[in-house]
Amino acid sequence: MKYNFDDIIDRSATDSLKWEKYKNTDILPMWVADMDFKAPPAILETLHKRIEHGILGYTDIPERLNHIIQDKMKTLYDWKIDRDWLIWVPGVVCALNLVCRIFCGPEETIVTTTPIYPPFLAAPENSEKPLVTVPMIEANHRLTLDFETLEKEFKNNAGLFMLCSPYNPCGTVFTLDEINRLVTLCSDNDVIICSDEIHSDFVLDENKRHIPTASVSQTAEKRTITLMAPSKTYNIPGLGCSFAIIPDQQHRALFNRSLTGLIPHVNLLGLFAAKAAYTDCDDWLCQLIDYLKSNRDMVYNRVNKMKGCRVFPIESTYLAWIDVRGTGLTDPVAFFEQAGVGLSDGSYFGQKGFVRLNFGCPKSVLEKGLNRMEKALG
Ligand SMILES: Cc1ncc(COP(=O)(O)O)c(C=O)c1O
Repeated sequence: MKYNFDDIIDRSATDSLKWEKYKNTDILPMWVADMDFKAPPAILETLHKRIEHGILGYTDIPERLNHIIQDKMKTLYDWKIDRDWLIWVPGVVCALNLVCRIFCGPEETIVTTTPIYPPFLAAPENSEKPLVTVPMIEANHRLTLDFETLEKEFKNNAGLFMLCSPYNPCGTVFTLDEINRLVTLCSDNDVIICSDEIHSDFVLDENKRHIPTASVSQTAEKRTITLMAPSKTYNIPGLGCSFAIIPDQQHRALFNRSLTGLIPHVNLLGLFAAKAAYTDCDDWLCQLIDYLKSNRDMVYNRVNKMKGCRVFPIESTYLAWIDVRGTGLTDPVAFFEQAGVGLSDGSYFGQKGFVRLNFGCPKSVLEKGLNRMEKALG
């Protein structure tokens, strides 16, 4: 093993959002999607070099970085994108909010599915647009889209559908059939798709692969705004660097206009980190994925043995969506905090009776958290 993901790195006194929440307590933070691993050495070296230069001025998007993204899309997904389609933004959430503002008319609704990453629920409200939520449905121990209900809602004057692919929090990796079906429904009902693919590098199921929504057809390409970032993959979310891929020229012009003067440029450290991430970190990522697979297996096996808890096979991400309704707990998050484990509350994702556990941490920490949960549940 070249990289050591077992190392426990003290994050106290670093103003970490994840760790500050439980500062001065014995609660293990396993909530927000931020891993407890160091960023890859190639990224850290690049950042050191850039800082040592000493001048941290306004920085252009390196043309080389645009080409790297074009190559990445082609190599990984056989998706040929134009350089002009790329727009760099300081955050995927910021782009989600912009998209809600721009791509939904005054009489239209925004549709998304639940449970979902909470900013999907907040963004329409921030834009004063009506939000319609459609619960995911279970099919063969997997949560997926409810196409019948989605179609009904699309016909009911929807302007925009917000998709999370792969899916936070349920881990679903959508199949080609599912994506094609969704695109057809959106196209038939003139609905624009915003596809948040920030978790695309975390496919853990060997029989699955990530397929960018926009890549499946020209129809898909024309009506999809894709959002991606190196932030989750390489554990650099604090650097605020992400990008949108917008093939449709009119959509792109609207997006660019609404960015201008309001949304800051991506900071230079984020850009340098992105360049290193996409050129020199493949082996680090391969090893990380193996590590996460083994953490995933541990979570799956142990949580499904806990009294009243259930988790489906986790196809992607480093997040486990745990059904705790069988425990009868009225406040599961408070219960697990009492036991020394800090989890995310399902109600923020639009589904009570669930908690989300982040297993992007050293194995010994994960074991400790699971031991505590097991012991508390008896
Ligand atoms: C689906 C999804 N989108 C976006 C984000 C955050 O993106 P950013 O930090 O670039 O705003 C997260 C973080 O957990 C996420 O899970």
